[in-house]
This record gives sequence, structure tokens and C-alpha cells, in this order.
Amino acid sequence: KLQTEEVEVFSTPSYACQRRTTLDNHNAVLTDALSLLAENAELSGEDGRGVAFRRAAAALKALPLPVTRLTQLGGVPCLGGHSLRVIKDVLESGASPEVEALRRSERFKALKVLTGIFGVGVKTAGRWIGEGILTLRQLRDSGPTLNRAQRAGLRHYDDLNRPVGRAEAAAVAAVVEAAAGSVLPGARVTLIGGFRRGKQTGHDVDFLITHPEEGREAGLMPKLVSWLDSQGFLLYQKTNSNSYLEAAEGPARPASNMDRFERCFSVFKLPEEAGRGGAGAGGEGGPRPWRAVRVDLVVSPVSQFAFALLGWTGSKLFERELRRWAGHEMNMCLSSHALYDHRQSRYLRASSEEEIFAHLGLEYIPPSERNA
Ligand code: GTP
Ligand code: MN
Ligand code: MN
Repeated sequence: KLQTEEVEVFSTPSYACQRRTTLDNHNAVLTDALSLLAENAELSGEDGRGVAFRRAAAALKALPLPVTRLTQLGGVPCLGGHSLRVIKDVLESGASPEVEALRRSERFKALKVLTGIFGVGVKTAGRWIGEGILTLRQLRDSGPTLNRAQRAGLRHYDDLNRPVGRAEAAAVAAVVEAAAGSVLPGARVTLIGGFRRGKQTGHDVDFLITHPEEGREAGLMPKLVSWLDSQGFLLYQKTNSNSYLEAAEGPARPASNMDRFERCFSVFKLPEEAGRGGAGAGGEGGPRPWRAVRVDLVVSPVSQFAFALLGWTGSKLFERELRRWAGHEMNMCLSSHALYDHRQSRYLRASSEEEIFAHLGLEYIPPSERNA
């Protein structure tokens, strides 16, 4: 090249929890390609490779401008040889042959369709593909035994694969607040997950529920679920009681029997209101009066609330990186319940997310900047 141009060289810290990642992604073309490879690795049971591609994509999401040349990436962490090759292809020719081939691959398409059924994981989808089941039609026709979650997932497939909007999330929030207020006055409902990070759409709506008086939240989930069910809001639910208990010796000890932190995976029957886009995926005879929406509910005692809030706000990679930072850099163990300091052999208390970041020696990153 004859001309010399000034090109910005980027650099960014190596852990996603040290970076501010907004939804304003300047490198979506690159991160979409890497995310697709991550997704394929995860769908193929290769979690390590999946994480590597997720980390590479996340590093690019944090850059302030679009990347135009490979030479700008000298100070960007987490880019392995494979990721760099994909980035190079996209920068030079607008697309990566590997990624384009993957998009067209029958196996990848089938894995996406089948794991798109609520209740169907990677293993089940892989087994079905091995039996020649590649589409929903083939699944319905060949009739392998489906569990309760999978039957609900198949029945509401179109609704559950249609993104949930903010207005719908607000409508679900109103229902959950009514339920909580009715079964436990004073209960507090907080929107978590992607909507708390400012996303405009989500694959579900996530809530964390607590009560300002420690212990009052015990047994809340079954009451909440039965209220929702009696009002006709539930198409499906499965409640897991969580048996978290702090051990004086630290979190390496297996937790035992106290049911104090519960989770419910559910499918809501959400009435469609006029003006909230009730066009629906119905098809048979005009707009339907309701749609199915995936909703996750978590109940936490107020003493663990800050940890649960931090742990359930996401993104998934941000959470993973927080735990990796805690372990590798601080000799601490972070979970959605607590933070344990191995050097001091004690739990570190916190009543806000800010305090947890401070314990971890990290600058506070607000939810809207955790979109790694
Ligand atoms: P969309 O729903 O696709 O918009 O994205 P999201 O970020 O809300 O993802 P999701 O609802 O899957 O998860 C929300 C948060 O909950 C993420 O931070 C996950 O890491 C966290 N999460 C999901 N499942 C579990 C779990 O079983 N245990 C814990 N502790 N956290 C979980
Ligand atoms: Mn979510
Ligand atoms: Mn969720």
C-alpha cells in the first residue's frame, strides 16, 4: 500500500465484567457470525468451544466503533485463531464461508427447530435427528414420547418462538404483581433478565420476588402458582424448590435441605389487549384473545436479594465472567446466593449490587451495560 492511513487500534480489558457493554453494538455483522458459531457449538454439545466464541463476540461488542481491519484488533482479548479467521473473512468479503455453510446446513436447521421447542434440550434434539426427525411435522407424525413440558412446547410453538415485547412484559408484570400482592402483602416483584438490561424484546420474561422481612418469602412460590393457576393465567408450570443453605465451611460443602430459594418455569396465558399488537400468530379466523408467553419466577430471601438480582440479570456471559473473575482473580466464590472469600474464610454480605462489585474489586457496571 502506498498511502498510510491512521486507523484506530482498539483495546479492551479481558473480562466482560470489566467492560461496559451496551445494546449499541457497532460490530453486529462480526458478532452475529461468531454468535452463530457459538450457538452451533452449544447445540453440538461442545460447550468449551461455545464459550470461546461467546467471549470473542463479547469482546467485539464492547468496541466503540466498527472494526474495518484485522490490524485494529491487537489489543482486543479472547480472539483465538478460529475467531480471527472468521473476522478476516467477514472483513474482506462480507461473509464467512464457514458461517454461511452452517446457516444452510440441514443438521443446524434441525437442531434450531427442535431445541426451539420448550422442554427440548440438545441431547433430545440430537437423538431425534439420529432417528431421522428433522422437522416439527416429522416429529408430530413419528410421535416419540413427549414429556409434559415438551407437549406444552409443541402445542405453543409459534407463540413461544415469537419475541416478547416490552408492553407484553409489562402486562405479565402486572399479573405477577397482582398475584404476589394477593398471596403475600408487601412482597416485592422485580423485573430481571434481558428486560432489566434494557432489551426491547426477549424470549421470556423473568421476575425475582422477595419480601422485606426475612423468612416471610418462605413457601411463597406454591401459593403464587396456585393463585395464577386459579385465575387461568397458567398453561404450564414446573416449580423447583431450591435447597440452598450456607455452610460455615464455605460453599464447597454440598448445600442441604432448607427450601428457601425457589424457581418456577412457566408458560403464561396472556390476554391480548387492543393496541398491544394482537395480530397474533393465530391464522385460524382472526386475532386470538391471548398468547402464550414463557415466564420465569424466582423467589429469594431478602438477605440474598442482591446476589439473586445480580445473578439473574445477565447476560449469561456477563454472569459467567463475573464468577470467573471472582474465582481466578479474587479467590472468591460467587453464586446467586452469596459471595464467599476463601482468603478470609467467610461470607461477604451485601444488600446492593454496588456492594458486590466493590467486594469483587470491580467498577460498578449498571444493568444496561451488562449486555456482553
Ligand atoms: P432473553 O430471555 O433471551 O431475552 O435473555 P435473558 O438474558 O433474559 O436470558 P434468560 O431468561 O435465559 O436468563 C436470564 C438470567 O438468568 C441470565 O443471567 C442467566 O444466567 C440466569 N439464569 C438462567 N437460568 C439460571 C439458573 O438455572 N440458575 C441461575 N442461577 N441463573 C440462571
Ligand atoms: Mn429472559
Ligand atoms: Mn429466563
